[in-house]
Amino acid sequence: MPGFLILNGPNLNLLGTRQPEVYGRTTLADVEDMCRAHAKEIGVEVEFAQSNHEGALIDAIHGTRGRLDGLILNAGAYTHTSVALMDAISSAEIPAIELHLSNVHAREEFRHTSYIARVAVGVICGFGARGYTLAMDAMKSHLDSLS
Ligand code: DQA
Repeated sequence: MPGFLILNGPNLNLLGTRQPEVYGRTTLADVEDMCRAHAKEIGVEVEFAQSNHEGALIDAIHGTRGRLDGLILNAGAYTHTSVALMDAISSAEIPAIELHLSNVHAREEFRHTSYIARVAVGVICGFGARGYTLAMDAMKSHLDSLS
């Protein structure tokens, strides 16, 4: 069974209460429950991690190397700033999907830049919490297309 890491970056621990008009009322625990249920339906294994610290996110990405098959990453604001996260994905040699709850392209200019997208298979944004299960489907189908 393919294994995915669903990794969330800064401020996403506050999902559900943080700017609900932008990010919705679904909590990170709800998201994880949805993903666990979906993993059973599509036959994948999922691990979850969240950190507000760039280095911890880098360590989590390194930890997938040779062990897991796909990375689904909502790097939050680090998406728009972190060359180090981009390099971590390249170093881990794992297919990655960049994910955002909000449609970052309809928001401020600084959110239109992504370092993650440069090393990602693709990007999903604007579908709220549902984006996490959409990303799981997209990763599964990407891996199927390689085999
Ligand atoms: C976000 C979008 C980012 O621009 C923002 O900094 C976040 C959340 C999203 O899921 O929509 O923290 O990644």
